[in-house]
Amino acid sequence: MGFFPSLPTLILFTLVLNSALLFCNGGKTSVYIRKEEKTVDMPLGSDVFRVPSGYNAPQQVHITQGDHVGKAVIVSWVTEDEPGSNTVLYWKKGSDEKKKAEGKVTSYKYYNYTSGYIHHCTIKHLEYNTKYYYVVGDGHSMRKFWFTTPPEVGPDVPYTFGLIGDLGQTFDSNSTLTHYEQNPQKGQTVLFVGDLSYADNYPFHNNVRWDTWARFVERSVAYQPWIWTAGNHELDFAPEIGETKPYKPFTHRYHTPYQASGSTSPLWYSIKRASAYIIVLSSYSAYGKYTPQYEWLEAELPKVNRSETPWLIVLNHSPWYNSYQYHFMEGESMRVMYEPWFVQYKVDVVFAGHVHAYERSERVSNIAYNVVNGICTPVKDASAPVYITIGDGGNIEGLAINMTQPQPAYSAYREASFGHAIFDIKNRTHAYYNWHRNHDGAAVEADSMWFYNRFWHPAEEPASHSH
Ligand SMILES: *[C@@H]1O[C@H](CO)[C@@H](O)[C@H](O)[C@H]1NC(C)=O
Ligand SMILES: *[C@@H]1O[C@H](CO)[C@@H](O)[C@H](O)[C@H]1NC(C)=O
Ligand SMILES: *[C@@H]1O[C@H](CO)[C@@H](O)[C@H](O)[C@H]1NC(C)=O
Ligand SMILES: *[C@@H]1O[C@H](CO)[C@@H](O)[C@H](O)[C@H]1NC(C)=O
Ligand SMILES: *[C@@H]1O[C@H](CO)[C@@H](O)[C@H](O)[C@H]1NC(C)=O
Ligand SMILES: [Fe+2]
Repeated sequence: MGFFPSLPTLILFTLVLNSALLFCNGGKTSVYIRKEEKTVDMPLGSDVFRVPSGYNAPQQVHITQGDHVGKAVIVSWVTEDEPGSNTVLYWKKGSDEKKKAEGKVTSYKYYNYTSGYIHHCTIKHLEYNTKYYYVVGDGHSMRKFWFTTPPEVGPDVPYTFGLIGDLGQTFDSNSTLTHYEQNPQKGQTVLFVGDLSYADNYPFHNNVRWDTWARFVERSVAYQPWIWTAGNHELDFAPEIGETKPYKPFTHRYHTPYQASGSTSPLWYSIKRASAYIIVLSSYSAYGKYTPQYEWLEAELPKVNRSETPWLIVLNHSPWYNSYQYHFMEGESMRVMYEPWFVQYKVDVVFAGHVHAYERSERVSNIAYNVVNGICTPVKDASAPVYITIGDGGNIEGLAINMTQPQPAYSAYREASFGHAIFDIKNRTHAYYNWHRNHDGAAVEADSMWFYNRFWHPAEEPASHSH
């Protein structure tokens, strides 16, 4: 004898179940509504795009980490009139001993655009935790900048990372960068989660917008490293105009220290910086079994020594846990490939971009499903990373406003605003994370959370604060 509920009972039961799902399961969707405004690119004549004065003056100066541990820096710049010098002159603050490093020059053509002379020079054997000055260019057009090397790699070294994604070159992009610069927490290095210039939104991918973007961000990236992740806007794959080599502008302009981590491609690599081990992945390169990226990551994860670098951070462009309608489930196949490893190796946090909004997940995993067992709902998992989408730099494509409803249980907080975040490592167990929306003052936190390290302190984190 079975139990057959009457139709009214069944309807009532279904209603109760639905409202339970609706009210108990989901996280928080922000009530903050941004006022309507157009996201437009800054015009070519804008102050941020100004070309430095002087014949052949170096422009678009940018730096990134140049080795695996933070004792080298790649300095890159562009000259427009002639190749000029490849030399970087550098010295320790307070020292008279000036050193020279020799770089290389390259250039490329894209449809009917010809790039300037793009210089890359790696300065090696730097001392940790030291301020260096450096000079690029010749004669009257020399330009001087500075950077500070990170402290020696070690388990309890505090370090402050900024997070920016999908920046572009609109007035909103400028606002994001300004807020990052003015943030009193003072980020020391930017983890950039992909989609830099959005030049590909222009007719024929007008690469002049790669140049303007690099001049725009120089005011930050000439003084502190930005760690590059490639996004879909770096592909510049355009067979209709004969451009069939993916990533051509990006790889000519932005170098990464991929060889130092045994990678065979500049699009995926790892670095150690202070107490963090940072793995950069490429959403738009092959990642299936037997591919170079797969084999590299499989060999890479066991190398992470949490006694040396407690914090394991992954950067990626297309998010795996995203509850906006935009790019919904685009990251799914990569998640299926790699998520079991992220749980096994207890990744602390994964930062992604691509969706032009902000979202933070619960610690969840979804690795039990095997096509036939039906177990396909993400579950709370203390060994799983928190997934953060920070594709809200402010590019020309505008905000992602439409969200899937109801908010799924994996999504802890979501808001369609532009902004940036800070990941502030205190020691091997604690890191303080916060997100800042552009419409507030530079110091206002719209979302924040204490991270407990998954290796050293895998306890449940206290409730976060979002407003
Ligand atoms: C490239 O071609 C486009 C379309 O013909 C044209 O509008 C643009 O001015 C050209 N740019 C250069 C640098 O020749
Ligand atoms: C960009 O922001 C900087 C710093 O706030 C400001 O000086 C500059 O005028 C802004 N430029 C544009 C085009 O908005
Ligand atoms: C891990 O790092 C610690 C601290 O630097 C070191 O003592 C230990 O030998 C390393 N372990 C391995 C397996 O390399
Ligand atoms: C967002 O949702 C609204 C209402 O459902 C719909 O009209 C609009 O087309 C959606 N926009 C995008 C970009 O998906
Ligand atoms: C690590 O940092 C947190 C937050 O600042 C602090 O409460 C904790 O005492 C620190 N742990 C150690 C061992 O210093
Ligand atoms: Fe993207």
